Amino acid sequence: MDSFENKLKRLTSFGSWEIIGKDDKTHFTACDGPHGLRYVLHEENGYQTDEPSYAYPTLSFLGNTWDIHLVKQIGKAIGEDCRKHHVSMILGPGVNIKRTPLCGRNFEYFSEDPYLAGMMGKAYIEGVQEKGIGACLKHFAANNREYDRFFQSSEVDERTLKEIYLKPFEIALQASPWAVMCAYNPVNGILSSENEYLLKHVLRKEFSYDGLIISDWGSVRDRAKSLKAGIDIAFPYNDQFLEQLKKGLSCAYITNQEIENSIAHIDDFVDKASQVNQENLENSFDHLKLCEQAVEEGIVLLKNNGVLPIQNTQQKVLLVGEFLNDPPISGGGSSKVTPLEKPKDLLSCLKKDHLKNEIEYVQAYMMRYGLPTPFGYKIALEKASSSDVVIVGVGNMMLEEKEETDRETIQLKPVFVDLIKKLSLYNSNVVVVLYCGSAVDVSDFVDDVASIVLAGYGGQEVNVGLSKVLLGLTSPSGRLAESWPMKLEDTFTNKQVGNSFVEHYDDHIFVGYRYYTSNFIKTRYPFGYGLSYIKTQYNRLSIQEENGIYHIFVEVENKSSMKGKEVVQLYVKDVTSSVSRPIRELKRFAKITLEPFETKTVELLIEKKDFTFYHPSLHRWYLEDGDFEIQICKDAETVIFSQKITICEDYYSQYSRF
Ligand code: BGC
Repeated sequence: MDSFENKLKRLTSFGSWEIIGKDDKTHFTACDGPHGLRYVLHEENGYQTDEPSYAYPTLSFLGNTWDIHLVKQIGKAIGEDCRKHHVSMILGPGVNIKRTPLCGRNFEYFSEDPYLAGMMGKAYIEGVQEKGIGACLKHFAANNREYDRFFQSSEVDERTLKEIYLKPFEIALQASPWAVMCAYNPVNGILSSENEYLLKHVLRKEFSYDGLIISDWGSVRDRAKSLKAGIDIAFPYNDQFLEQLKKGLSCAYITNQEIENSIAHIDDFVDKASQVNQENLENSFDHLKLCEQAVEEGIVLLKNNGVLPIQNTQQKVLLVGEFLNDPPISGGGSSKVTPLEKPKDLLSCLKKDHLKNEIEYVQAYMMRYGLPTPFGYKIALEKASSSDVVIVGVGNMMLEEKEETDRETIQLKPVFVDLIKKLSLYNSNVVVVLYCGSAVDVSDFVDDVASIVLAGYGGQEVNVGLSKVLLGLTSPSGRLAESWPMKLEDTFTNKQVGNSFVEHYDDHIFVGYRYYTSNFIKTRYPFGYGLSYIKTQYNRLSIQEENGIYHIFVEVENKSSMKGKEVVQLYVKDVTSSVSRPIRELKRFAKITLEPFETKTVELLIEKKDFTFYHPSLHRWYLEDGDFEIQICKDAETVIFSQKITICEDYYSQYSRF
């Protein structure tokens, strides 16, 4: 039986990672995530040594796959990795919205779109939890920058919170994650760890969440205040928490009932975690193969003048740049997994995939103190002039995209830009491979090069999958889950620099493509964009309504002799809204495989609630009569088909309009 003193103890973790069980001796371990299992073997003076594990592609990369089944499979694999290590819960996924390309943790998040991020998060959680391991949805909420993240308040109006920043959580919660982690930042002036509105009113009441709520690491200032707001367990252990709880009790600020409520959530977690069958810990499928397949699904072809795929007739291929040899596979911080195997170099991958051409690698720059510095440019340029195609690898580094700091620019390091520009003077077939977790500005070289391939942060098998795409063994099918602006100045948030006090979310609901499309700002590469080697044609759109459900049928044809994939994107435009709404919003998507010359009809279902907006005066979702367009798009800026439907609800459900 739990003594009261023991109950108070259980409201804080044991050490950094463990949840105390009912009998005080049994502990349950939670680990980072989410890009694989980051099992900490040893901690000293703030430094941690992790056990190597499968390093899967980052969530930003998975967002670009638009493949829910794949993300679920990754979740399952991570669940199996956890079971092997007797880990009860993985600390992920994060479904925060990418509001600015500068956010240091964008590589840990799926998308700028709430629906896409939510669906991906849901799939990840379902996969992990199918293996009897808990997932922890994070960071709740409005954590969209790293700048002074413990202090700077995200000032967001209610409609924006509901439609943009809370929506992905609402969707992902359908998978019933075992835990939800609060964010560091205050929201509208109140710390996320003490925010009763967010934790109790929204999460518990509106979203009916009855699992465990935990703090982010070090986000709790006062344990009694955080308990009152709804935090069941504070991480990591802190000597002062017990005293703070006792003090809160003694002055009746917190009640025994509040403690019992949290203990009930912890017990519930413990019951689930205790049921894990630790027998038969063999993986049920090949995790390394999955890493590779995921890469093939998520690489985005941004530009191609026909140089790709590399033909076996192209006589000489030159690989340039240390990243092709030793690729960045993730950003930095708590999500960085130490890979089981050193990521493979592109040269050996291409050779393994039977590239028959003459092929050579030159380093051209080397990484020193996290920065690229030229290392034999001249050799690279000489060889470029006598090659048929040049592939150059560049990107961001862990010191740029990482937890705790934001980027200052979306431009690549001058050394990289310079190298690309010089190579393109010597060769007209330069293919740029970008390793990064968020948008970069390619304006300096986009017109000089033949092709740009976004390899992202693809995990330990990134170059294995990349090789298949470069050689045309796989047609690229990744689509951007984040808009790429022409330049940073085009982003709404450009002028917002941190001031340590507040960040006003004055862009309201107009985040990402909602901002660009509604303000007619052309992006470099829009949300949902990605080229492929196959040519698809959309033949027809038809809509049937049945009991308030709209069945949308889209016929897609593969006009080429190569197998490939297409991402069918369905957006809704509110034509007659009484409040301002974005030009269009993503409501459904489907990734389909098309055999050579195959035609497929995709069916997507949408419901009436997909047409609602969060009414700022009514403080609830509102379905307003009027005309809507169902738009099938190639990307957020390119409409293929549009068909009008009219919604006409019960007279008294509507507010009068003149
Ligand atoms: C991060 C969390 C992470 C935790 C544990 C925090 O700094 O914000 O995402 O799970 O550390 O490492």
